[in-house]
Amino acid sequence: MVMKKIIIGFSLGIMIFLAAFISNLVFSFFEAVNSAISGETGHILGFFGIFIVLLIIQAAIAYSILQKKGVAEEVLASGKDNVATSKFAKQSEFKDFLGTDGLPISQKFRLSEKKSFEHYLLCGSTGSGKSASFFIPSLLQLPAHASVVVTDPKGELYMKTAQHALNQGKNVIAFSPFKSKTMKYNPLALCRNASEVRELAQVLLANGNAAIEQMTGTKAGGSEWTNMATPLLVAFMLFVYELDAPENTVAKALELITENDLETLKLLIEDSTPEAQQQMNIFLQSAESEKTASSIKTVLATSLQMFTDPLIQDITSLNEIDPKMLREQPTHLYVMVPEHKSAFMSPLMSPFYSQLMNHLLETGKGCPIYFLMDEFANVGVIPNIDIILAICRSRDMSISLGIQSINQLKQRYNEAANTILDNLKTKAFLPGLSYDSAEYASKLLGFKEIKNVSTSFSQKKDNSYSVSAQKRELLTPDEVRRLPDETILIISDNRNGFMDKQQRYYKDKRLLALASQEITVEEMLGEDE
Ligand SMILES: Nc1ncnc2c1ncn2[C@@H]1O[C@H](COP(=O)(O)OP(=O)(O)O)[C@@H](O)[C@H]1O
Ligand SMILES: [Mg+2]
Repeated sequence: MVMKKIIIGFSLGIMIFLAAFISNLVFSFFEAVNSAISGETGHILGFFGIFIVLLIIQAAIAYSILQKKGVAEEVLASGKDNVATSKFAKQSEFKDFLGTDGLPISQKFRLSEKKSFEHYLLCGSTGSGKSASFFIPSLLQLPAHASVVVTDPKGELYMKTAQHALNQGKNVIAFSPFKSKTMKYNPLALCRNASEVRELAQVLLANGNAAIEQMTGTKAGGSEWTNMATPLLVAFMLFVYELDAPENTVAKALELITENDLETLKLLIEDSTPEAQQQMNIFLQSAESEKTASSIKTVLATSLQMFTDPLIQDITSLNEIDPKMLREQPTHLYVMVPEHKSAFMSPLMSPFYSQLMNHLLETGKGCPIYFLMDEFANVGVIPNIDIILAICRSRDMSISLGIQSINQLKQRYNEAANTILDNLKTKAFLPGLSYDSAEYASKLLGFKEIKNVSTSFSQKKDNSYSVSAQKRELLTPDEVRRLPDETILIISDNRNGFMDKQQRYYKDKRLLALASQEITVEEMLGEDE
């Protein structure tokens, strides 16, 4: 501050000196040419005129310098003497994010369609309101021209929202592997070329291993064995890929591998495509002996054991899932894998979502697509989900992930978890979170300034007070955990946090009426298999 005063004083001094000097010069000039201007008043007027002109020039220079300092200065100017600047936002600060046709996040916070394409994270433990305040309201409120793919482990979403979708004129379908009338899904039939077949083989093996580890608590194959097994699986998936349905399945490839000896396998591949032969050669380089080959076959049989289950063989024997139809006609696709089957099913479910997303990225415009994925961490690992999230906003696709904790996501995706989190531009947190998630939310919220008054007592009468600025978290992790029931903390993009009431569907007359037109799952999809 003192420095500023000195600079102002100094520049004023220079200007006065310059003005006097120039006006003197001008005056002598006019006197020399016998001008009419003369005398004392003329001198003073001339001096002030020139002083004002200089003042204007100096202001213009100062203004342009400040302009160049730009945004950073502007941001700091609002709080440069504060130790922290975070606070809660008002609804009006989100005008450019909110709308009437995107994801309904809370009572006062509904995203616009455009902002919904920048994706959403909903973090809440069981019973905190994810289904009642987000998944059900979304299915009831997303516009009639939108398609939705939704995970529905309990079938509750189908029961409460399928009838409304039908009334809107939408197509309602379900992938419900454990019900008799499910649609069938053959991942191999959805591959469009050899490299997609190879990717599929890798996803199947990676998730197969993880599933075995999760279900048995023991380490499966190990990555070295899995790496050796991959080309063999790819070779035979390419082999059956050329066959007609129902032979073109993962189960058929696995059966061929496990039921034939090495010599027969070599002979079979000789009639197949060059890509298949190439993969077989890669395999043979690492597994010349029958003994190694048989160990590798065991690894495959273990990792892909779900494909030996007759029910899985049946639902993967044919493909009725056509991603294009989601673009062509507004559709609700309910994906119903019960929670206790999710580990077992993850080798199939991760290619399911990954193929849908990848196909839809390339189908161009049509209906916007909303993926509403509750219990995202149970789906298995979707390869490249971080990249998919980054590119699909320009393809009218919105992905919402429901998770129970941030750690759950990190355990599944390791380093990619951070990129995933960065690409979900709107994040919301519900009451009762685990410490890691509450801490994550608290850090995103930042710090606010508090005034600390301290008093010191002296023996004489005059006690002295001093006020100092300190910072504290806007909400500490435990305050995030202790959010009142039915509230929601929303943190979107580059804005301050926003606190609101959840929009529970059963407390909203209109939504409750829509949800009450219940269809029973059994009626539509048949009994359990
Ligand atoms: N129709 C309803 N009427 C009254 N309470 C409900 C209703 N549906 C859900 N709830 C309550 O709302 C809370 C949140 O449920 P839910 O949204 O299913 O949790 P989450 O999906 O996060 O596990 C639960 O405590 C549940 O008892
Ligand atoms: Mg739920």
